[in-house]
Parts: sequence; structure tokens; C-alpha cells
Amino acid sequence: MAAPQLRLDYASTLDTAVGSAHGLSLAEIERAAEPVREAVQRIEAERRAGQHRYRDLPDDAEMRRVVTAAVKRYAARKFENLVVLGIGGSALGNIALQTALNPCYHNVLPARSRRGPRLFVMDNVDPTQFGNLLDVIGPAVKKTLFNVISKSGETAETAAQFLIVRDLLARKLGKGLARNLVVTTDPEGGTMRGIVDAAGYDALPVPPGVGGRFSVLSAVGLFSAGMCGVRIDKLLAGAAAMSRRVAQSNVSKNPAAMLALLLHAFYVRGKRLHVMMPYSYQLKDLADWYRQLWAESLGKADDLDGNRVNLGPTPIKALGATDQHSQVQLYREGPNDKVFIFLEVERFARDVPIPKVAGLPADLAYLQGKTLGRLLNAEKAATEYALVQSQRPCMTIRFPVVSEETVGQFILLWEAATTIAGRLMNINPYDQPAVQLGKEFTFALMGKKGYRQQADAYKAYAKSRGKAAI
Ligand code: PA5
Repeated sequence: MAAPQLRLDYASTLDTAVGSAHGLSLAEIERAAEPVREAVQRIEAERRAGQHRYRDLPDDAEMRRVVTAAVKRYAARKFENLVVLGIGGSALGNIALQTALNPCYHNVLPARSRRGPRLFVMDNVDPTQFGNLLDVIGPAVKKTLFNVISKSGETAETAAQFLIVRDLLARKLGKGLARNLVVTTDPEGGTMRGIVDAAGYDALPVPPGVGGRFSVLSAVGLFSAGMCGVRIDKLLAGAAAMSRRVAQSNVSKNPAAMLALLLHAFYVRGKRLHVMMPYSYQLKDLADWYRQLWAESLGKADDLDGNRVNLGPTPIKALGATDQHSQVQLYREGPNDKVFIFLEVERFARDVPIPKVAGLPADLAYLQGKTLGRLLNAEKAATEYALVQSQRPCMTIRFPVVSEETVGQFILLWEAATTIAGRLMNINPYDQPAVQLGKEFTFALMGKKGYRQQADAYKAYAKSRGKAAI
């Protein structure tokens, strides 16, 4: 039986649905397809020359072997907790995979009902949160595995967490601390690599040439997923299947090319806010993951020819049906500057019937005998209808089911769409120069050597900015 395939339904982006002022005509899409086709062909040629390395991950048998072996080794030790320390691209994929592919309340299930340890992904340095985590795992440190993920090893947040945890492990486990530590980092260089080599910690590689936000299908995302029972071979098989679909230069057969085409065309028309709205709790953190991928990859000051362009769509996350009661008023009646990307599930992993109850008031009687799944999908259809009535373009990515295969497809789909959109915008989707300044000034404010100039600049700024507070 063929594996279930994601489908991109873009009928509600067309002028026939939302009118010509806000929708795209088929003729426009056809005209826009030519540069997209060329972009796809160029990207595929560049892949053959060794670029866009994230696309190789689904078929990287050696990477899969290394991760699977590590999972097997650590799973055998029956840890109660797995704590991932990382941020940005070193955390969001882990969270998304866990939410999508394990039960919603995985961590509160008894061990016998879970497929692995409880998982905590710490992607912040909020002292209350981190302190509370230490309270939870403190009594069980010996039964806790820590996976530190940092490609560079220099990220202040992850480095600080690592130092706290290493100290804790040293106090509780003494010389055996390394037994509860796996570090995922650059295999060749960087600060963390130096620490790992010097101390002999177990390490997993972040593949060279793969940036943080494109790395979920490497050891970065796969180790914690595998530890918690996610079938990583199926996840990669789904991604590999999508990788083949998005290599096609025929845009009408290539969902990443079509996504990039549509979202770029709307961007050019002034619809620069791209709202992803899953109607599925399981998919909600994939929308967070998408937010980083789309924003950090496409928000750029300069184009590839060195022109100052200050481009980039703003990705927004909403959750159906929750945000119908929070955002939809704005989405229908506020500025018509958004495109809506719904995520819809055809067959939920389970459904919950609404009981039949005698004597219900007529206002509620319509619900009885239906299911929550039917209600949620009716809300999606109704919200899309309402948005379309307000001439707001909408598209839907339809999951036949939420499974390792379809989640793998979704990840690769958006990664490839990001590369193509970057090409259409003539920017580099793989760098993030603007994140650097904040990092450097954090170093300066925390007294890191070599950042004296930034510390002085900050002092001057703080003095000159005047006073305006109430
Ligand atoms: O996508 C990216 O490159 C970033 O979000 C990084 O993943 C993030 O800054 C963490 O970097 P590192 O893994 O080097 O600690």
C-alpha cells in the first residue's frame, strides 16, 4: 500500500475564490511558474555539486546508523528523563517531533504507557523555568540523560545550561558524569567539539554544511525522537519521498515549488504576513518550527547582489480552533495583508464521541452523536469559508494522518520551499547575520573577553538614550 501523502490545496488562493484584487489567477500562476522551474533546476544542479546538504539527510545511511546505534545504547539503560539543552534550530525540531508523534501528555503518563523517557526540551535560560526543572529532575539525576545540542558550542544560553548540568552531574555522579551526557555538535570544530574531545564525552554529529534550522532530520532532532519511541526510519522515509517530489521541475507536481511560488507572489502583492494555523494539537509545534525556518531564512537586509533590500515575510502561528476565539476577528476584518496556511488532518489518531443525552436543549442537541474530530474539521472548513467571504486567501496542507511518514514529508516540504523562496527573493536563506549582533552584545554584557568595544558601545548607548518610563 502506498504511504499516505501530504497534499497542498490552494484553490482558496485563486481569484475565483477571493476575487481578483486579492487572489491569484491561473494565468498569473502559470507566468510565475517559469522562474520557479528554473530555480528548482538550478537548486537540483547545485545539489549534485554538494550544496543544500540538508536534502541529503533522508538518504544518509551512515547518519541513520550512528543515531540508531546511540538510541539503542541509551534506551537499554532505561532512563526516566531525557533533557535536551539547546535553542533555536537545536531545539524547535525536537519539540515539534515530540508533540506530533507522541501522546499529548507523554510526560505525565506512567512509564509503562510511554515508549521512552519523559522529555524536557530546555530552549531558554529563564531562571524560574530552569530552576523548576532542576527541582523535578533533581531527585532522579542518575536516571536522567542530558543531550546538549549546539553546533557552535558558543551559544550563551546552551553553554550556561551545560555548565549548570555538568556541575550537577559532577556532584551526583563524580567521575561517572559522562555516562549521563551526550553532546550533539560539529564533528570537526567549534568550542563544544574542543570540550567533548578533551573530556571524552559521547558525541553525535551535526552534519557539516547543515545549519541549525535545517538540521532536525539529523542527530539534532532524531536522537531525542528515537529515544522517545519515534520510528526515525519512517520519518526519514517520509522526508525522502518528499525530497523526490520537490526535485521535479514541473511546478504543478512539486508542492514546495508551488508553496514558494504562491507565498512569494502574495508577498510581492503586499500580503507579507503568513499565518500557519494547524487544526491539530499534534501539529501545533511544527508551526513554531516553520516560524523559525521561514523568518530566519528569508528575513534579510541584503540580496545576493549586495543591494540593500530589507525583505522577508513575517510568519505567524495560530492554533485552530483555539485562536478562532482570539485572532479570527482581526484576520477577517483587519488589514487584508495575510495569507492563511491551514494544516488539516483527515483521520485523527483517535476520536472522541460526544454522548447522546436525553433532554438536551435544542441549542446543544446538534452536537450529540458527533465526534470532536468532526467538530474540529467543521470549524476549519467554516473558518476558511468565513475568511474567503472576506477575500482572504487561504491554502491547506492536508495530512491524511499524522504519522512519522507525513511529518517527515512536511519537514522536507518546508525546508525545500524555503530554499526555493530564497532563490526567488535572491537572498541567502542559510545565514543569519542579524542574530549575531545581539549575541555579541550579550557576550559583552556578560563580560566575555574580546568584547570590550561592544561593552563600551552599550554603555554609551545606555547613557545617550534618555529617560522615558512611567
Ligand atoms: O538556525 C540556526 O542556525 C540557529 O537557530 C541556531 O540553531 C541557534 O542559534 C543555536 O546555535 P547552536 O546550535 O550553534 O548553539
